[in-house]
Amino acid sequence: MISLKVNGKPVQVDTEPDMPLLWVLRDELGLTGTKYGCGVAACGACTVHIDGAAVRSCVMPVSAVAGQSVTTIEGLSADGNHPVQRAWVDLQVPQCGYCQSGMIMAVVALLKDKPKPSPAEIDDAITNICRCGTYVRVREAVQAAAGLS
Ligand code: FES
Ligand code: FES
Repeated sequence: MISLKVNGKPVQVDTEPDMPLLWVLRDELGLTGTKYGCGVAACGACTVHIDGAAVRSCVMPVSAVAGQSVTTIEGLSADGNHPVQRAWVDLQVPQCGYCQSGMIMAVVALLKDKPKPSPAEIDDAITNICRCGTYVRVREAVQAAAGLS
């Protein structure tokens, strides 16, 4: 049994210790907001927070997060009213939406570290891949959430 906290609730999972956190979240805990894109830490679709830091969960063995606190898109806010989520809606960022949970989780972590990021800092920090090409609106929404526009 591996114990961790997910979205504020203690959970215990009975899996292989090297199972990626992504599959524990999706298959064991039913938290399917976190997506699988590449499986090799390249796309960011699987981004969650571990103790507040953005992590690509497809390459994180669940045993490595034992005792830590994981936040997924489902746990970001009670009703979708986190400032980043509101900016995403206001600026209609998503197209197909597949990458957007990971994108939002990466942005929330960025704004925690750098509340007023420059465009260059946004580009450096947000390396998530969006096949729909929403990058321009992502940057605008980050600036809106940061109160810069
Ligand atoms: S699925 Fe994890 S980075 Fe692409
Ligand atoms: S909105 Fe479609 S992949 Fe990003």
